[in-house]
Amino acid sequence: MENGSNWWNEAIGYIIYPESFKDGNGDGIGDLRGIIEKLDYLKELGVNLLWICPIFASPMDDNGYDVSDYYHINPRFGTDEDFIVLLKEAHQRNIRIVMDLVLNHTSDEHPWFQRALHDENAPEHDYYIFKKGRYVDGKLMPPTNWSSFFTSSVWERVPGTDEFYFHTFSRKMPDVNWNNPSLRKEYFKIANYWVEKGVDGFRLDAVAHLGKDLSWSDSTLPVGKDGTVLDTSKFSNRPEVFSYLKELRASFLGKPVLLIGEVGGEIQPEQGRLLADREKGTLNLLFNFDTVWNNGNFGSIGKKDEEIKTDVLLLKHNFMRWYEACHENCDMPLYWCNHDHPRVLSQYGSLKYRNESAKMLANTLLFFYGTPFLHYGEEIGLANLLEAPLESFTMDVGTKDSLSSFRREGYSDQEILNFFRRAARMNGRSIMQWNHDENAGFSKTLPRMPLGFDYKEGFDVQDEMEDPYSILNFYQYAINLRRDPFINDLVLRAPLEIVDWNHPDVLSYLHRGNDTRLMVISNFRPYEVYFTFDYQIADILLQNYDGVILKDHVFTLRPFETLLLRLR
Ligand code: NOJ
Repeated sequence: MENGSNWWNEAIGYIIYPESFKDGNGDGIGDLRGIIEKLDYLKELGVNLLWICPIFASPMDDNGYDVSDYYHINPRFGTDEDFIVLLKEAHQRNIRIVMDLVLNHTSDEHPWFQRALHDENAPEHDYYIFKKGRYVDGKLMPPTNWSSFFTSSVWERVPGTDEFYFHTFSRKMPDVNWNNPSLRKEYFKIANYWVEKGVDGFRLDAVAHLGKDLSWSDSTLPVGKDGTVLDTSKFSNRPEVFSYLKELRASFLGKPVLLIGEVGGEIQPEQGRLLADREKGTLNLLFNFDTVWNNGNFGSIGKKDEEIKTDVLLLKHNFMRWYEACHENCDMPLYWCNHDHPRVLSQYGSLKYRNESAKMLANTLLFFYGTPFLHYGEEIGLANLLEAPLESFTMDVGTKDSLSSFRREGYSDQEILNFFRRAARMNGRSIMQWNHDENAGFSKTLPRMPLGFDYKEGFDVQDEMEDPYSILNFYQYAINLRRDPFINDLVLRAPLEIVDWNHPDVLSYLHRGNDTRLMVISNFRPYEVYFTFDYQIADILLQNYDGVILKDHVFTLRPFETLLLRLR
């Protein structure tokens, strides 16, 4: 394996949701043995960096993001030993492993929280955030009017007391108190424990929320019917996060540990640049999600399907505002989605043009500036759970919480189901479709997680491998090209510009290298569009249709047509 610093600049990342990827022991639940079985597949695809969603011991309220023991592997995914074998087998294939480390909260079943809850004099009591409620007209109310991401208030009452504890996500995930140095030390110990075992880095979950507004004052934003409001300024991307992460980085004593931060919460590129600065920053790559929902789909329950349309202008703007602010000082990740989003094929692509649109999305992403991350299944064009029942979606605690509020707001179950099939995050957690065997070759036992609607039609990896024009083969070819040192260098170092900012349907960009210019042209529409082209083609490196229709300096781009061109 290359040992240099910034090794992630040569990486192609792949996100694995372990429960849904591959079952190695036949119990219907994906696991580490299953991942080991598929390492050769991943290597063949060209992937050399895996981010595996949480595998620590957990009661699984939020599918592993609620950790009850950071030092042990969740038995449903295997043993501690299995993880060591996975590390060894992956490293032998030059594949690096990044663990998903949850720093913002634990499970309420974590011994720290149990001690904190039952003994207010225990040191662990200050590992969490407890506050007394307020009496309003004789009624006990939460300490502030802040809303959490999942349920309404961030505060949950401690039974039998007038105290509340703080949770940014579900009630079973109390936030830890990063303002307490002993708590911070516990996390540094945990991270270093796994580095000693050989992990190459961490994806730091919800890291934007480690700092809270310690004045605990009410938000002045307008509150909803439940009296709360989601005001991210109260607990997202606050300056303390920077110093906490600096300590975490220092705890690795110079080892090249990759730190990938999940930094939603309306972070701005200038803040991102501070966090990820190559010289002075603390994180290496930041996932900000600004390019994920650029079609009006987020929170779109009141909208009809026809109203969801990719806003190509917004996509260009969001890709470029981060590129422009950061590329000189920071490395960046490139991604369409993860396990918290609908499948990108259903988001920006089209089932009708599955092959064309999946390839278009691959080409558009892979050659932009940054380290690409594919979400498992993207390489075969997996789509949303278009036929799944309501229960498949409410397996997810976040979605379950939203079901009750949608019902209270008066939406019918059919309207809610349509919305979930379009936007819920379970769509990105469906079973990986491997072959024509039972349960898409995932397991001999009926999986706990939902299977895609098309697995019985033989839509799977095996099928895709056999077809030379498949999405999978396109990905493999494109990844190979992207990993070519010359192309990789051009993509990462040559200045990048958007071609035709105002084109509402086409996303096109150009890398201006010293002797080589590389251009991507992608039609995001399920119909033909025209695109003015004032250049000379030297080579077509990638395309998803036969030939090109180019006349008088105007391309006619077919539905979701994409091209990677070397220009003269
Ligand atoms: C972000 C994770 O990606 C998501 O799945 C989880 O629910 C929250 N953080 C809370 O840990």
